[in-house]
Amino acid sequence: MSERLQVSVTRIEREVEDVEELAAIARAAFAGPSFSPVDELERPWARVWVARGGAPSEALRALGFLVAWHVVDELHVLNVATAPEVRRRGIGAVLVETALAFAVESGVRLVLLEVRRSNEPAIRLYEKFGFVVSGVREKYYADNDEDALEMQRILA
Ligand SMILES: CC(C)(COP(=O)(O)OP(=O)(O)OC[C@H]1O[C@@H](n2cnc3c(N)ncnc32)[C@H](O)[C@@H]1OP(=O)(O)O)[C@@H](O)C(=O)NCCC(=O)NCCS
Repeated sequence: MSERLQVSVTRIEREVEDVEELAAIARAAFAGPSFSPVDELERPWARVWVARGGAPSEALRALGFLVAWHVVDELHVLNVATAPEVRRRGIGAVLVETALAFAVESGVRLVLLEVRRSNEPAIRLYEKFGFVVSGVREKYYADNDEDALEMQRILA
């Protein structure tokens, strides 16, 4: 069995030390142009959370991130990613949970996102937190003409 992970999630608001670790997680997770969650901080409406942790015997390191845009009463989740070697150990879940808690505290009415139709792990993750499919954007992803599912969660 895998060693237990201790994970804490923090919202980052300025340059952090683990920029390269975060960029590596993004490279492993997404095809296409390189994406650094830290670069997103230049947009005033971007919200970025980083999960850091490790097994009790390890030094703390970045394990995942979630990037969203917060505009008035909507939170648009752009990306969530977990380092490949620690997937399926609850990190994506704690990131989504943290973003939803932020949304509730901030008076957000609607949390929305797009996800590739074939991305079963991400779709299951969002469904676990009450997101439902609200539409389809045909051939939304230019690299392979894949459809995007639009998912949303309406908050009270
Ligand atoms: C999607 C992703 C972020 C999930 O992260 P994770 O840390 O592995 O997720 P968790 O361990 O917290 O899983 C939470 C839930 O998501 C679902 N899930 C996650 N991975 C899954 C998989 N491979 N198959 C089916 N369901 C999965 C399950 O419901 C899981 O709950 P459970 O373990 O109790 O069954 C991760 O697979 C990833 O980084 N993928 C590449 C990047 C990506 O596609 N991001 C989404 C862009 S929209």
